[in-house]
Amino acid sequence: MKNKELFNEYAEEILTSNIFDMCKNTFSHGTISIYEHSLAVAELSFSMIEKSRLDKKCVVRAALLHDFFLYEWHIPGKRYLVHGWVHPAIAAKNAREMFNISDKEYSCIKTHMWPWTLFHPPLYKEGWIISFADKIIAIQETFLRRGKRHQLEDPGRKIDGTVEI
Ligand SMILES: [Fe+2]
Ligand SMILES: [Fe+2]
Repeated sequence: MKNKELFNEYAEEILTSNIFDMCKNTFSHGTISIYEHSLAVAELSFSMIEKSRLDKKCVVRAALLHDFFLYEWHIPGKRYLVHGWVHPAIAAKNAREMFNISDKEYSCIKTHMWPWTLFHPPLYKEGWIISFADKIIAIQETFLRRGKRHQLEDPGRKIDGTVEI
């Protein structure tokens, strides 16, 4: 990333909010928190387009909030089975309620899991970038850092699937 100042400017509202800190208590892959995961996706997405004319503010904000679903999904059960399909809409709804996101940012969040969400591909180039970056980061987390999962403690993790607000 060349322009870290611009990235920080766009990310500031979200990264400095208490509500986004809740993502430190929900997990992506292994011991990687949603906070870390979302930051990595936002940084990669921004790096991919920072020299383009695409909407960088939208990319940073939607990438940070793309997994803002605020529940622990690694618990066997109904939610675990449907998580891949339902969490984009939940994240988009949460993001709309808790941050002043644009319709474009909302759309990018809601479509980031394509092709899982078969009939809802990204409507914007920014959405395609986030969807692609998310998959790259998820692969890295799954295959490169998997071994750490059982070696670390997760003091903030809620075993019943809830998160304190
Ligand atoms: Fe996701
Ligand atoms: Fe993700």
